[in-house]
Amino acid sequence: MPKSPVPDRSQTPARAGVPAVPAPVSASVPAPASTDVGDVISGAAASCPPVSSSLSGDAEPVIEVRDLTKRYGSHTIHEHLDLTVGQSEIIALVGGSGSGKTTLIRQIIGLESPTNGHISVFGHDITSIDRRTSHLLRRRSGMLFQRGALFSAMTVFDNIAQPLRELHTLSEDLIRDVVMYKLEMVGLSGRMANRMPSELSGGMIKRVGIARAIALEPELLFLDEPTAGLDPQASDEFVDMIRGLHHSLGLTVVMVTHDLDTVMMLATRVAVLAERKVLVNAPVEDVVRVDHPFIHSFFLGERGRRALLALPAARRARISELLDDGK
Ligand SMILES: Nc1ncnc2c1ncn2[C@@H]1O[C@H](COP(=O)(O)OP(=O)(O)O)[C@@H](O)[C@H]1O
Ligand SMILES: [Mg+2]
Repeated sequence: MPKSPVPDRSQTPARAGVPAVPAPVSASVPAPASTDVGDVISGAAASCPPVSSSLSGDAEPVIEVRDLTKRYGSHTIHEHLDLTVGQSEIIALVGGSGSGKTTLIRQIIGLESPTNGHISVFGHDITSIDRRTSHLLRRRSGMLFQRGALFSAMTVFDNIAQPLRELHTLSEDLIRDVVMYKLEMVGLSGRMANRMPSELSGGMIKRVGIARAIALEPELLFLDEPTAGLDPQASDEFVDMIRGLHHSLGLTVVMVTHDLDTVMMLATRVAVLAERKVLVNAPVEDVVRVDHPFIHSFFLGERGRRALLALPAARRARISELLDDGK
């Protein structure tokens, strides 16, 4: 299991009565000028555009990957890969096992270097920035690793507190308030704080992982197979939680998933990774029209069709002929 979570960045607290995590000051990365709770809350609301499936707005993309190539030895994972993620989108990254989904995320968050190409995050080319800027950019994003990756020897409290303590600027009192608030945000009672990860269900572990990933109020959240291993009810609860966080924090989310229901319920766009590139990055009703064996088997098999039926009626109507045939 990965040992260290990606450090997040302090950005915006979300509730009156809970102290803001002071934002690091940087010449190169814009940080909120104020740490007053009220100011930051209204600032967050004002800067949070509505969820949109369109990239045509004026806002600069949060993530821009251009002509990316990634090789391990002679094994080419990505070749001429492009991906754009707009603000407040929820991108579902889908693709066969081993197609390079996790590797793509690891490059975007700077845990792996591309062999070639450009990746910019929040307008910074992450392949050419200095370490300090890289550190600050990482603080603006949170990550839920594929296997939860909680520290097994630490309590729930200490797991969530860990990125806050790494700042070395917060008092334990403040850390306690933030941790308890994050627990509440992910739907866990404060009584869970003293539990060990081994005492938690899979769904609870994911929630704690999310609480840690949002500890520093990131603007960008990466989720690697967040509902894998969860039963259907826990998956639905997880989807509700992400939807709620997306709504309240205006997060941009990039989520690797095989879970069709999660894709239909959350994704503003689906990016399909196949043949070493992103074949299509579009709303699911456009994706399913692309003639490709992976897309066909993933979305238009029995499970895929059933999941597509959960789309809102207007979106479903756009693909009615695809849903009707072959039954
Ligand atoms: N550090 C590494 N060294 C060598 N090969 C790797 C490394 N990380 C991933 N790979 C290979 O890259 C390919 C894509 O892996 P991954 O991104 O984990 O796929 P996915 O998440 O889509 O299942 C796989 O063939 C995997 O074995
Ligand atoms: Mg993976």
